[in-house]
Amino acid sequence: MSHLSTSTPDVRAADFRFRCISCGDLNDAAGQDFRCAHCHDLLEITYPRWDKVKPHPDALRNEWRQRRLSSSAVDLSGVWRFRDLLPSIADQEVITLREGNTPLYELPRCARIAGVPRLFAKHQGMNPTASFKDAGMTVAATFARRAGFRWVACASTGNTSASMAAYAARGGMRALVLVPEGKISWSKLSQALDYGALTCQLRTDFDGCLRLLQELVVQAPVYQLNSINPFRLEGQKTVALELLEQLDWMVPDHIIVPGGNLGNSSAIGKALLEMKELGLISRLPRLSVIQAEGANALVRTMREAGGKQLINVRPETRATAIRIGNPASWKKAARVLQATGGACEQVGETEIAQAKAEIGAEGIGCEPASAVTLAGLKKLVKQEFVKPGETVILVLTGHLLKDPDFTIEFHRGELFRGAPEEPAASALRRPPIVLDATLKAVIDTLEHAGKS
Ligand code: F0G
Repeated sequence: MSHLSTSTPDVRAADFRFRCISCGDLNDAAGQDFRCAHCHDLLEITYPRWDKVKPHPDALRNEWRQRRLSSSAVDLSGVWRFRDLLPSIADQEVITLREGNTPLYELPRCARIAGVPRLFAKHQGMNPTASFKDAGMTVAATFARRAGFRWVACASTGNTSASMAAYAARGGMRALVLVPEGKISWSKLSQALDYGALTCQLRTDFDGCLRLLQELVVQAPVYQLNSINPFRLEGQKTVALELLEQLDWMVPDHIIVPGGNLGNSSAIGKALLEMKELGLISRLPRLSVIQAEGANALVRTMREAGGKQLINVRPETRATAIRIGNPASWKKAARVLQATGGACEQVGETEIAQAKAEIGAEGIGCEPASAVTLAGLKKLVKQEFVKPGETVILVLTGHLLKDPDFTIEFHRGELFRGAPEEPAASALRRPPIVLDATLKAVIDTLEHAGKS
């Protein structure tokens, strides 16, 4: 491994700064662990240029619209199109796979099921590596290469590793992936392998992988691309910008996201606060975070410790993407919940499976971790946290094909063997049927299905 020092002088070092989220210490540079040198808390990126001249909201909106007509790589990216709110870098240095530009789908049947008038899904699974991670990865990988690193590394429940491996490969860097052995889906593992990463399956869980990575980055010249890296969160902010643009800047009442390591909720929350500060929106939507009951560290942190102190848990859930017990960005997420007045809720395994099938039955589909949003919404409606008439956006974080085993086991009725199944969930099951290859067999089956 060699740490290549960059030959390009950092001409725009003053464009952004790192600020500690606890003690507020400001710095032009960050250490390899991306933690404050004084109090060891997480860093966030700030833009001193806004203190001097705030960009005008109409000018920004126009510029972003104009760029949609351009064919340059940075304008075709749904992340870099919003580069005015990102750390600056020369266009030719950007590593992009044309990420972002994800669809906003209306979900009329899920809306009826949940009891809300209008429900939309911002489908981040429609990114180049099929998860929301690409929005942050394009920015963080770009700055990793700019810093001269040959190796990038992450701990992952699967999606981060797939995304990092792709962007590293595009950027000519090597990728080191640490994943919990046996606890990530084969689809995600296969992506990391195909994109050429050095993939280590560690005999631990995600939290164990992340702990090890934190030790590794201070000893070896590898650049960490977990969401502790604040460049990741800057890129992930653009999800909210693109969403608001798709809504013609009409602010929805609620945005609901799944919560794992809590980078995504932190990033979307930061974007909302910045949009408000810049006058792009006049009020904040409530940003709510939903976790699996078996991996509910933030829920417990909010309920039992008022968001002041992390209560970590031993995670267990079939939604393996969010099988995390010690979320790194809990403090950032807790602040976002407080700032936007969002809720933090948990949902059970069968609720997740049912919600996933309901999203699938709309012709959309998502991976299990994403479906916690719909399951959570149903609860928030029952609790009257989401009120009649309010508009809700679910952020679907991963594509249906990310975890085919879960889907097949659900439809075959094998997902929760022995556990009683809700009638609503049974009604959604569409198991594959093995038949003799005769016309009669197919017609009989068709007639039978037509009656049900
Ligand atoms: N949804 C999916 C599909 C994910 O892959 C993740 C996290 C989350 C939700 C939770 O997002 O961590 O920002 O709160 N996946 C990470 C990974 C941990 O390694 O792929 P978060």
